[in-house]
Amino acid sequence: MVSLSVDIAGIHLRNPTMLASGVLGISGKLLRKVAMAGAGAVVTKSISLHPRSGYLNPTIVKVDCGFINAMGLPNPGVDYFVKEVAIAKEGGAPVIGSVVGEQVEEFVEVALKLEKAGIDALELNVSCPHARAGLIGQSPELTYQIVKAVKGAVNIPVFVKLTPNVTDITEIAKVAVDAGADAITAINTVKAMYINIEIGKPVLNNVFGGLSGPAIKPIAVRCVYEIYRAVNVPIVGVGGICKWQDAVEFFMAGASAVQIGSGIAKGLSIFREITKGLEDFLEKSGYKRISDIVGLAHKV
Ligand SMILES: Cc1cc2nc3c(=O)[nH]c(=O)nc-3n(C[C@H](O)[C@H](O)[C@H](O)COP(=O)(O)O)c2cc1C
Repeated sequence: MVSLSVDIAGIHLRNPTMLASGVLGISGKLLRKVAMAGAGAVVTKSISLHPRSGYLNPTIVKVDCGFINAMGLPNPGVDYFVKEVAIAKEGGAPVIGSVVGEQVEEFVEVALKLEKAGIDALELNVSCPHARAGLIGQSPELTYQIVKAVKGAVNIPVFVKLTPNVTDITEIAKVAVDAGADAITAINTVKAMYINIEIGKPVLNNVFGGLSGPAIKPIAVRCVYEIYRAVNVPIVGVGGICKWQDAVEFFMAGASAVQIGSGIAKGLSIFREITKGLEDFLEKSGYKRISDIVGLAHKV
């Protein structure tokens, strides 16, 4: 009998799959539904101090191997969102609050409000490729300040979500861990754009967006592999996961859990499909638990 449960930074997950931030995470009811569909944990849409309407349409475009989105982090603001936390928790899986802000104080204020609302852990989004807030994750100094300040203010685990849009992702991962990060989530979307050749113009209103889906999986796996070598905290892998084989690749690169974003376009059954596939794979290969394959690709 194999076990799929994992413990990450003190959070117990019945299985290693999570809903990625921004994808169905905007209301308590949707988060509850995803948890009931089998996700091991759910991450909220990134929440800011004040409501944000996001960018004007078009905000998302389908490309060959995924999507490019520039939503502009639309969300109802933390004071509205705190009411949703209890509903989300009825799903029976840990709820991780994604926090976004423009400066240190905003991150701290949102984090404190979510903690008070009963959220299980926080994920600091310092990595959105199409918002000013996303530039934080390209600066070691700003990343350090924000992680340090949030860690000093709350008593729940803090995950830090990194951007691949940097020269060396391990530099930012190390800084985040030095500042106290309990886990690293990698990766957010890859900066991209799409031009409609009939009209000769970029399609997204914001011009640039973030590429997600199968196109970015090899980039995300590479980032997880590099981060695993650089730091000693658990890593949550995300980017292009659509089937259990993708998840195994992330575990072998060094992830202890995985998140699914664009993959839910296939339907919420993806969580049960992936957990079933993982269970069969472990059983067939003679492994007992997920941790047996975490970082396997690093061993000679
Ligand atoms: C429509 C959309 C909205 C997103 N919104 C957020 C967000 O609010 N906060 C965040 O940290 N990541 C956000 N992301 C990034 C995802 O959480 C994830 O890191 C990325 O899409 C890669 O995973 P995937 O290929 O499984 O989608 C968003 C992605 C998409 C496609």
